[in-house]
Amino acid sequence: MRELSMHLMDIIENSIKADADLVIITIEENKAENNLTITVKDDGKGMDKEFLQRVFDPFVTSRTTRRVGLGLPLLKAAAERCGGKVEITSAPNLGTQVKACFQHQHIDRAPMGNLAETLTAVIVGNPKVDFVYTHITPKGRYVLDTRIIKETLDGINISHPKVVEWIKKNIAEGLKKINGGVDE
Ligand SMILES: Nc1ncnc2c1ncn2[C@@H]1O[C@H](COP(=O)(O)OP(=O)(O)OP(=O)(O)O)[C@@H](O)[C@H]1O
Ligand SMILES: [Mg+2]
Repeated sequence: MRELSMHLMDIIENSIKADADLVIITIEENKAENNLTITVKDDGKGMDKEFLQRVFDPFVTSRTTRRVGLGLPLLKAAAERCGGKVEITSAPNLGTQVKACFQHQHIDRAPMGNLAETLTAVIVGNPKVDFVYTHITPKGRYVLDTRIIKETLDGINISHPKVVEWIKKNIAEGLKKINGGVDE
């Protein structure tokens, strides 16, 4: 089963390919209410209505290297396998929001995977893009905003090994505090 963090990376990559400057990632999980929602919102080039209606079709892609686009169809399959769904809203030149809902406790819900590793890789690999990552659980909320980090770094590159380690640790410890992103 493909981990949710890998699906998340796919949706974020779509935003980056759409020339987003800011990607807002929100993960909300609540075991008691059996909800797990992952939302990725970007300010990229968006999609028109006609394209959006066909976007879950694997043969719909703006890729030029191969003729199929699998990111969104695979995400949809992963959500529907556990009683969830994917909703996309988009407007040309304004941006796109992809919201994927999963039943948290469903036996077929894919495991979360390593969010700290995945998100750090995406952030560091795309230094020109900003990310706001919010993770919400009944225990609290964790927020990482690369705009604030970059301001604090004052010119030091975000891909500096010390910074990379710091980001990864900050996410891992932040999630631990709110008991987020864990599968048991
Ligand atoms: N956030 C987005 N903003 C603008 N267009 C998007 C966005 N996400 C997806 N799309 C459009 O939908 C198409 C299908 O996306 P999907 O992720 O399913 O496949 P892909 O990105 O083309 O290929 P793959 O994910 O397999 O590398 C993309 O090619 C792109 O044109
Ligand atoms: Mg994709």
